[in-house]
Amino acid sequence: MSLSSIKPLRGEVTVPGDKSISHRAVMFGALSKGKTRITGFLKGADCLSTISCFRQMGIDIEDTGSEILLQGRGLHGLKAPSDLLYTGNSGTTTRLLSGILAGQSFESRISGDASICKRPMGRVIDPLTQMGASIESEGGNGCTPLHITPSALKGITYNSPVASAQVKSAILLAGLYAEGSTTVIEPALSRDHTERMLRSLGATVKSEGNSATLIPENELNAVDFEVPGDISSATYFIAAALLVPGSEVLIRNVGINPTRAGILEVAEKMGGNIEYLNRRGGEGEPVADLLVRSSLLKGTTVEGDLIPTLIDELPMIAVMAAMAEGTTVVKDAAELKVKESDRIMTVTENLKKMGADITPTENGYIINGTGSLTGAALDSYLDHRIAMSFTVASLVAEGETTIKNKECVDISYPGFYGDLESLMR
Ligand code: S3P
Repeated sequence: MSLSSIKPLRGEVTVPGDKSISHRAVMFGALSKGKTRITGFLKGADCLSTISCFRQMGIDIEDTGSEILLQGRGLHGLKAPSDLLYTGNSGTTTRLLSGILAGQSFESRISGDASICKRPMGRVIDPLTQMGASIESEGGNGCTPLHITPSALKGITYNSPVASAQVKSAILLAGLYAEGSTTVIEPALSRDHTERMLRSLGATVKSEGNSATLIPENELNAVDFEVPGDISSATYFIAAALLVPGSEVLIRNVGINPTRAGILEVAEKMGGNIEYLNRRGGEGEPVADLLVRSSLLKGTTVEGDLIPTLIDELPMIAVMAAMAEGTTVVKDAAELKVKESDRIMTVTENLKKMGADITPTENGYIINGTGSLTGAALDSYLDHRIAMSFTVASLVAEGETTIKNKECVDISYPGFYGDLESLMR
C-alpha cells in the first residue's frame, strides 16, 4: 500500500494501553496473592508474549474482551514450564522475566525471535550473576537463548552502566527473591513503572534521585491495574498533528509519567502547540488528554538525562527535526543501536532516502531541517517504531511512500493505521 496525504488531521483518538505497564501488570499480578483485574491492557504482540509465558508457568489468565483477569499465585507459586519460554520480539518480556526466573526453584530456558536473539542480554546476565544467579547464554555470545538454574540470591548495590528500565527492573525483580536489600543506581533515571507498581502491591521500594532500593517482602498483595494510554503510541499522533498543516487532534487518556514524557518537553521546545486537559492520577500513573495543533517547528538539542524519558520517541523526533527549521542534535543516545533495530542506522537510511540532511554519530544524529521530505520506498526493518514514525513522515512527504513490512506495528499498536485514517476523514 502507498501512503500519501496532506489532508489535515482532525478529531479525537484514544491510544491503546501503555506497553511497559501492561507487561508489568501481568508479571506482578502473577507474583501477587489474589485476583488482578487489568483494564486498558495493550493486546499488542509483545504483551501477548508475556501472557503466554506466564500461562506456561501455570498462571490462569482470562481475556474477557474488555479486561484481563488473572489469578496470582504469590511470589513462590509459579510452576516449572515444560518448554522454552518464547518471548517473541519483546525485550521487556525477555529481560524482566530473566530477573524473575533467576529467583525460582525450577530450571528454565528463555528465547525470542531473530531480533531478540541479537540483542544484548549481558546487561542482565552480569548483575544477576553478581546476585548469585546461575544464568547462562547458551551460545556464549551474551544473547538468548538463556538457561537459568535455581540458585540462592543475595541483594547487591549495582551501578548500572546504562540507563535502562529493563535492566533496573530485572534486578529489582530478582531482588524480591534475594536475601537483603537490592539497590540499582542508574546514570540517568529510566522509566519508574516497576517501582510505582511494586509499591502499590505493598513492596518497599525507595526511590532517591537515580537510585531505587527494594527491600524484599514475604508476599505481594494483588491490586487492580488501570493501564493508561501509551505516550509512545500517542507520539505518532502528536507529531502528525504538529506537522500536517491545519490539524487539531485530541488524544485522550495519555500517561504522562515524568520518566516517560520527554517527548512533550521536546515537542514544546521545538515550538509545538500542546495543551494539557483534564490532568488526573495521583501517586500511581499521572494521565492527561492532549490537544495538539499544527505548529511550525524549529530545531533543538536532545541530550543527557532527557534521553531515557523519550528513548522510544527518538525516531519520530528525527522525522520532526527533518521537517523543522534549523539543526537538531540528538546525543547521549547510544542505546538506540540496541533496540528492535539499530535505530541510528534505520532512521538514517530511511530519512536519507526521503532526501533529508542527516549525519549519524556514535550516540545519535545531527539533522539539518529542510522543512520538506520526498516520498520513497522505505523499510521498517521489522521495527514497529520505525514503521510508525515513517508513516507519519509519509503524510508530509511529497510523492508516494511505501514501507516494507509495515504490519510490524502490531508489536505495540495493532490498530495504528485505522486510528490514523480515522483522523484524516
Ligand atoms: C522498556 C524500557 C525501554 C524501552 C522499551 C520498554 C520497559 O528499554 O525502550 O520499549 O518497559 O522497561 P530500556 O529500558 O532497555 O531502555
